[in-house]
Amino acid sequence: KVLQASFFSAQTPEQVDFEPAALIGIDPNGQIAQILTPADPAYTTVLQDAQEKNILQCLPPDEYLLPGFIDLHLHAPQWPQAGIALDKPLNAWLQDYTFPLEAQYQDPDFAQGSYQNLVQTLLANGTTTVLYFGTIDEAANLVLAAQCAQAGQRAFIGQVVMDNPEQTPAYYRNSSAESALESTRHFIDTLRERYGQTGLIQPVLTPRFVPSCSDAVLAGLGQLAQETGLLIQSHCSESDWEDNYVQERFGRSDTEVLKSFGLLTANSIMAHGTMLVDANLATFHQQKAALAHCPISNAYFGNAVLPVRKILQEKITVGLGTDISGGFTPSMYRNIQQAIISARMLEDGVDARQKASERGVKNSRITARQAFYMATVNGAQALHLNTGQIKTGYTADLQVVQDPLAKIASSDPAAIFERLMYQTTAQNIQTVFVKGQVVANHNQ
Ligand code: GUN
Ligand code: FE
Repeated sequence: KVLQASFFSAQTPEQVDFEPAALIGIDPNGQIAQILTPADPAYTTVLQDAQEKNILQCLPPDEYLLPGFIDLHLHAPQWPQAGIALDKPLNAWLQDYTFPLEAQYQDPDFAQGSYQNLVQTLLANGTTTVLYFGTIDEAANLVLAAQCAQAGQRAFIGQVVMDNPEQTPAYYRNSSAESALESTRHFIDTLRERYGQTGLIQPVLTPRFVPSCSDAVLAGLGQLAQETGLLIQSHCSESDWEDNYVQERFGRSDTEVLKSFGLLTANSIMAHGTMLVDANLATFHQQKAALAHCPISNAYFGNAVLPVRKILQEKITVGLGTDISGGFTPSMYRNIQQAIISARMLEDGVDARQKASERGVKNSRITARQAFYMATVNGAQALHLNTGQIKTGYTADLQVVQDPLAKIASSDPAAIFERLMYQTTAQNIQTVFVKGQVVANHNQ
């Protein structure tokens, strides 16, 4: 198939490339095989050839091709409570709302209805890859995997591990470290049998967070990480409560504890990190571990704004996550916007009673380009994927977005790009591709 499309693709955190009316050839394996610009000598021939073979799709002038977004942190079972009880502190929200909801996924019919709705919603919002937390129940996680496979979404799915009786309720916990590790191994094997070693659906090691896990289970998962080479996801230094809990239990920071159990490696994606201090960031850099920045969730549960610009400058891979349902929205656009807004509020400070010169943290703001880079390139890097950019040899995980103000607003590419970041809703997302296959189409 050949797309004729004007596209945006992040090149560096500062630079977004724009190519008008490019020809993008996608091979049967869903890889981008060729990109030609109108100046290219072969352009006309390839265009005519594609037309004759009836494999050409031309985007209208007000539509743009972008890489699909990569959501680096999302709790699939929490979708039915998106936006609920966000005024509660983290631990009360987990105990009183979240754990009871997650326990309901023992009912496979409930899981089926909820996961089907979620996966369709995410695709319609332009999210082509998700790093999911599931629940502790294998059957429900397999329902999620089946929904993703059926819909064609790229998915990394974690069977949640939580066995610490002091921090988890009896109705929703692994009965022992051994049984948790056994069920994780079983889930990995089943997923690999069904979807292969390198398919669209992959397992991830998922200790919920240090407070909900025993030492034995953390050690066992670290061992399993080494044996299998799988990705690892968890929460790290998310809030005052969580950060202090880990410090009190181990006498060390969350970062150091995760590292000591073999859970902070180049395969790790840790959510939040709002409480990370400089020494922790140095450890993240050393270990080549990635962060999932969840700016909407952090506004409720993070107790602080992540200094994302500083962390990007320190060459730590930071992607973006919705953190449904700590974050209320399935939209990565909405999280791009909040990442920019939160960073700006960090820079300007919030208390006008302070002198202007003493307010906020200087040089904290980020641009829409930087946020877009996180949602695409850094997400792909964290997951070791060849996606997130429109480039020859990359996988065609893409979204087509219509510019709702095209008729009345500036046609300068830089303005169009920023407008798309701020104005796009699911309404404007026309088509979504994963591996070159159409997985969502607004007009159908
Ligand atoms: N920490 C442990 N579990 C969770 C969760 O489900 N959501 C958030 N935001 N933080 C957590
Ligand atoms: Fe989370």
